Amino acid sequence: MVQLTQALAAALLATGAIAHPGGNANRDLLRRQAHLDHPERRTIQSCKRDLVESGWVREQHMRREARLHELRVAAGFAKPHELVRRDPAEAEATYGEAAACTLDPEATEGPYWVVGELIRSDLLTGEKGAVTHLDINVIDTTGCKPVTDAYVEMWGTNSTGVYTGVKARGNGDGSGSALTTNALRGLQKTGANGTATFTTLIPGHYVGRANHLHTIIHHGATLLPNNTIQGGTISHIGQFYVEQGFLGEVEATPPYNTNTQVQTKNANDFLFQMGKQGGDDPTLKISLIGKTIADGLYATIDVGVNPKAKQNPLPVNMWTSTGGQPYPNSPWTGYPDTCKYCGFGTKPPKKRAGTPLVREGLIYGEGAPLEE
Ligand SMILES: *[C@@H]1O[C@H](CO)[C@@H](O)[C@H](O)[C@H]1NC(C)=O
Ligand SMILES: *[C@@H]1O[C@H](CO)[C@@H](O)[C@H](O)[C@H]1NC(C)=O
Ligand SMILES: *[C@@H]1O[C@H](CO)[C@@H](O)[C@H](O)[C@H]1NC(C)=O
Repeated sequence: MVQLTQALAAALLATGAIAHPGGNANRDLLRRQAHLDHPERRTIQSCKRDLVESGWVREQHMRREARLHELRVAAGFAKPHELVRRDPAEAEATYGEAAACTLDPEATEGPYWVVGELIRSDLLTGEKGAVTHLDINVIDTTGCKPVTDAYVEMWGTNSTGVYTGVKARGNGDGSGSALTTNALRGLQKTGANGTATFTTLIPGHYVGRANHLHTIIHHGATLLPNNTIQGGTISHIGQFYVEQGFLGEVEATPPYNTNTQVQTKNANDFLFQMGKQGGDDPTLKISLIGKTIADGLYATIDVGVNPKAKQNPLPVNMWTSTGGQPYPNSPWTGYPDTCKYCGFGTKPPKKRAGTPLVREGLIYGEGAPLEE
């Protein structure tokens, strides 16, 4: 039993540090707690021996070094022959430590998941910011092997903290101007080494949440002719974060520094704090490709999943050839004011003008049933 989470969340609730706009803090809390307490929960650390002995840790370490070098060469910061390798034994020894980039938290999908996004690696679609080449390794923690046929879905805000494909009060100016773009959303298959590769941005911030990227891991889905997937199951819903010091540097660069929304630091984001419980670390490991953030970034993270686990996240919208359209009966529709998952059951939400919903304690009200 890991009971820290509840105590931590209660403490955060008491200090008013939780400004989780909409969403049901209690539902998120219970979901995460159930995950931590699950008798079959296994972390990536528990696979360390197998992954080291099979050579996977060494291979991935070398592959990542080579990938960063390739990006440096492409950007003109290194010559092809200049690859300097670190001793892979060092990478093996430190693999899976708390400070390493491993994670297996179950987190909320949040109110802005748009289903039906395209299979594509480059998610930028014209958005500007800290361009990030992101490698996500998916590991089956029940068999301690890479998952080679999963679809990894990613979405995040643009550099000024606005989600595409959705319209909601508080998402940008609330006008829905981003409804017709799918920028910063998409999926990739994990492939031979269990790695899915994206080009995206370090997400900007929006009121009530620390900067974060969302992910969902799909298994057994069918690829459709229009480059989307259908069916299958979802084993994992997660969120990735950026180390606060580095994030400060990103936020000081344009266009991040034109964002007028109030920023929440990792330390005050209860979903981040919960994500770090039980030896998990949902923080991306990030390297500069060149000399500055503007030269681009290379980020990696390992995600441990139980491929047989069944999560049931629900989208607010679906991506169509004419943009984001409402998903029928979505519990997120009406967010942040009236949605079913807004967390207050039939009671009207308490609001302060211009600020997110305010919570005054653990609310055992309406919410999604616990999955897993
Ligand atoms: C997978 O790993 C093998 C062995 O390290 C390597 O040769 C291959 O290039 C990798 N494939 C991908 C897609 O990274
Ligand atoms: C982020 O998206 C919103 C909505 O489309 C847009 O108004 C804003 O300009 C975008 N930010 C940047 C830096 O382009
Ligand atoms: C892709 O095809 C499916 C099945 O026909 C359809 O429901 C969906 O709207 C299509 N997506 C796009 C983006 O065209």
